[in-house]
Amino acid sequence: ENYGYSLPVYPSPMGGRISGDWSDAYTKARAFVSQLTLLEKVNLTTGTGWEMGRCVGNTGEIPRIGFPSLCLQDSPLGVRYTDLNSVFPAGLATAATFNKNLMYLRGKAMGMEFRGKGINAILGPCMGPIGRAPEGGRNWEAFGADPYLQGVASYESVLGIQEEGVIATAKHYLLNEQEHFRQYAEWVGLYTNLSAPYSANVDERALREIYAWPFADAIRAGAAAIMCSYNQANNSQACQNSYLLNGILKDELGFQGFVMSDWLGQRSGVASVLAGMDMTMPGDGLVWADGISLLGSNLTTAVLNGSVPLWRLDDMATRIMAAYYKVGQDPSTYPEPNFSSWTLSDYGLEIAGSSEGPTGLINKHVDVRTALSRQMTRQIAQESMVLVKNTNNALPLNNVRRLGLFGSAAGPPLLGPNGCSDRGCDNGTLGIGWGSGTANYPYLVTPLEVINAMAIVQGTSVQYNLDDYDLDNVATLAGAVDTAVVFITADSGEGYLEVEGNIGDRNNLSAWHGGDNLVTAVASENSNTIVVVESVGGIDLEAWIEHVNVTAVLFSLVAGQDLGIGIADILYGTVSPSGKLPFTIAKKTSDYPATVIYDVIEPVPQINFSESIFVDYRHFDKYHIEPRYEFGFGLSYTTFHISGLSVTRLNGIVDSEVPPEPPSYNPPLYLNGSVPSPSSAIYPGNIPRYSHYIYPYIEKDIAESITYHPDDYPYPEGYSDIQPSKPSPAGGASGGNPALWDVLVQVHASITNNGTTGGSEVLQLYVSYPAVDGVDFPVRALRGFEKLSASPGETSTANFDLMRRDLSYYDVASRNWLLPRGTYTVYIGTSSRNLAEAGTFSF
Ligand code: NOJ
Repeated sequence: ENYGYSLPVYPSPMGGRISGDWSDAYTKARAFVSQLTLLEKVNLTTGTGWEMGRCVGNTGEIPRIGFPSLCLQDSPLGVRYTDLNSVFPAGLATAATFNKNLMYLRGKAMGMEFRGKGINAILGPCMGPIGRAPEGGRNWEAFGADPYLQGVASYESVLGIQEEGVIATAKHYLLNEQEHFRQYAEWVGLYTNLSAPYSANVDERALREIYAWPFADAIRAGAAAIMCSYNQANNSQACQNSYLLNGILKDELGFQGFVMSDWLGQRSGVASVLAGMDMTMPGDGLVWADGISLLGSNLTTAVLNGSVPLWRLDDMATRIMAAYYKVGQDPSTYPEPNFSSWTLSDYGLEIAGSSEGPTGLINKHVDVRTALSRQMTRQIAQESMVLVKNTNNALPLNNVRRLGLFGSAAGPPLLGPNGCSDRGCDNGTLGIGWGSGTANYPYLVTPLEVINAMAIVQGTSVQYNLDDYDLDNVATLAGAVDTAVVFITADSGEGYLEVEGNIGDRNNLSAWHGGDNLVTAVASENSNTIVVVESVGGIDLEAWIEHVNVTAVLFSLVAGQDLGIGIADILYGTVSPSGKLPFTIAKKTSDYPATVIYDVIEPVPQINFSESIFVDYRHFDKYHIEPRYEFGFGLSYTTFHISGLSVTRLNGIVDSEVPPEPPSYNPPLYLNGSVPSPSSAIYPGNIPRYSHYIYPYIEKDIAESITYHPDDYPYPEGYSDIQPSKPSPAGGASGGNPALWDVLVQVHASITNNGTTGGSEVLQLYVSYPAVDGVDFPVRALRGFEKLSASPGETSTANFDLMRRDLSYYDVASRNWLLPRGTYTVYIGTSSRNLAEAGTFSF
């Protein structure tokens, strides 16, 4: 009956109360923050304004003690807005590798590049959207349509990034599953009766079992920052949603780092702060670059008049500094930004947005790419390619004499790799989608150039027609070659850019530029037509997938700067394909559990996630819908035999239905400060005051009007100055109750390569649950995967640890994860539907 309504949770849990890996960071952070003035603390929490510094986000600095502005920079796939950086394969491609080691090493390689540019925090990894709606514009930035896969990829990414000393930002928290109506200012022009961003309405179980799940993994890996999202969740703005921030994040998931707003995602001042938001970005509050912050001097005022308690400001600043120390940063050793996001010129304004102030050398063009970067961009591109159809051994190509290439996506983008701002166009090889989740390509390898290079060696005749619409000439050429490869695309991105009529989200799941017609034109004349889909997700393949002349279909899922190499390596059999679909491809759009809402009439669009936990394959399984290609599916050039399944329940570990109680909190440590007099916060006369730059100071007349009277303010329901002494039953440590990570069951299984060529296979483990009255379980849920390689005749074995969380469901009544009694089945296979072996265990 509370559906669509968010319960209040107050007060905001202070950081530093869980024991363990954050203790040292908090000791240092408390010592640091206790020496700061009110204004200096406020500066840590508030961005200086859009374009008011080198990076997309810049905190206020503390010159008195030589503490610099912190640099926060996009994106989850590479350093945005610079040069001589890598464009790594996007999240979706990384997920498609199902290779944990690559996920980790990619994080490490990115960490090195961000650090090399002098960035304190990377605005990634992205683990939401999950992709409940296949058209969702930013699905490709994250790790696919399953929480477990997203969770593992997030965990590995955070470890890799933070080991290099860079703060990882897990985003977008939470439920930002579509671009349409995500932000008020962006959409009100198109829908004038809009009064607030959409509300994603979701039930308690889906909230934990699907959407917050990967964030738990990121936090367990030590993620030091979280970005709250643009949308509302259950009719409360995500950045002021006390249930999500104070409740789930800081209590249940034991998050010890800081929460930053998405850029203009904050919609209130005091309410957001009391609800658990710790930092506002880019500093401007409701309007870009207007110099007015919801925090900044307003936060100063709020603390001075008592509407925000001092302990909360202390906690905000301490959480930020704890994150800084947690990853090992230190002002004396950490590099300063050596680039400007706002120009690639060598010299220019330090504060680009202000048109005033100092100028200097702002771009040093530091080449931050490493050997590891080069290895990752190439290997992930290779391992992310998903082969979904291969009849008559069409692939790999075998000494083709006359090869024809078709489609603009085979060749270079018309304006060059970075010709369109934030990659907002689709007119050539598609390496990534568009929006803030991008970076400038150092180069972009097209399939055409690699295939031409092969032709030089192999003596192939390579002909092509890259006009997507020149169907008559295409058909004629297709009839005059032995093998034809058709390249088609589907693109999407962030909602502030419209590309070919698509405002962030895809309008539909069809191939772009009449791709179906192009494939059909080629296939009508050539009996060996191979299709390469360069896309941001699944597309509707039905117009031609069963055409006898379409012999092979390969998906390249936003594989980054080296995708041409990855594609060619698969086409020529240099490597055997080993990517797996990180989402389901349906036969009909209506088979998917959800779609983007494109049109609204109500002022606050209500988007009910009524499919609950049944996203992607969970939905197809539940309703017995035959997909075109199921989650986890992907072919290889060799064949594997699965054997040797063993399932062992471990002894000596508590496996009760209710988990052991979490450890209790350490007592909160309040800093010994007091609220200063308002006059101490007045603008000093002796510092430059740049227009639209955000400062923490207040005007003299305001200072004179302020009195401290906290009792007069309507603090929210449940608010108190006394911190809770116990975590919620699901909480207690980074990621939640530590018992949730107890390994209860171990599973082993092997693959034998019984083909004639080497290759890798992803062994996937799915679990089905015992029946519980009144609880609807998925038919099966992914709970393990391991990528194994084997040469012909060789056997490799995988070990899977099933943890309490993997085997539990979230019980709303007891607010806890329960381990059901009865018999579970473990399935091992090579996709969510190709399950070769099964075993059982019970509690
Ligand atoms: C908005 C996007 O939603 C977020 O992902 C990004 O990090 C910020 N803008 C900063 O560019």
